[in-house]
Amino acid sequence: MGEEDSDYLLSLFRSIPGFPKEGINFRDYMPLLADARGLSILMDALVRALPVPADSIDEVAGLEARGFLIGVPLAAALHKGFVAVRKAGKLPPPIEHADYSLEYGTASLEIEQGIIKPGTRVLVVDDLIATGGTAHAAKTLIESVGGTVCGFSFIMKLNGLGGCDKLGDAPISTLVSMP
Ligand code: PRP
Ligand code: ADE
Repeated sequence: MGEEDSDYLLSLFRSIPGFPKEGINFRDYMPLLADARGLSILMDALVRALPVPADSIDEVAGLEARGFLIGVPLAAALHKGFVAVRKAGKLPPPIEHADYSLEYGTASLEIEQGIIKPGTRVLVVDDLIATGGTAHAAKTLIESVGGTVCGFSFIMKLNGLGGCDKLGDAPISTLVSMP
């Protein structure tokens, strides 16, 4: 992605110090989704910056909730299916469950058993990586139902929190970064 496009995407992130708690600088990408040019640049850039070749991906997994908003259009653009990794209590049984910590608390994610076939190569998509707790929990869940995480795509990386170091060997693509 060129500097002009990356600056444009960055300009559409809103920063909210002290949300959702003291000490957190929240990076909100809703203004980016709301901007026609920004959304178009974003979807093109996610496809161009895939961490692995498109033909090596079987399914795209999005992480509730913000990862859903880009995961489905990315899956459709790549002609892949979409798998939902949801917050606890939303999916009907049988499910797999993982507890994790993120930058501002703790949470749990779940995936439906049988939603992917064993050996499926899954690209994990989310808006942002901070500590990496969420993405790591998603990887654990996908592996627990027989899939393999072949890569991760994020729009934003928050620097200094070590998020990418938690994710093992799978290649990671990030479009922009902030402190
Ligand atoms: C946000 C974001 C990532 C996660 C990153 O989700 O969308 O999923 O935090 O943080 P981490 O790298 O420290 O784990 P959040 O849990 O706030 O949920 P939301 O998507 O429902 O807003
Ligand atoms: N998820 C984890 N940390 C975050 C932050 N600083 N802004 C937005 N989403 C986040």
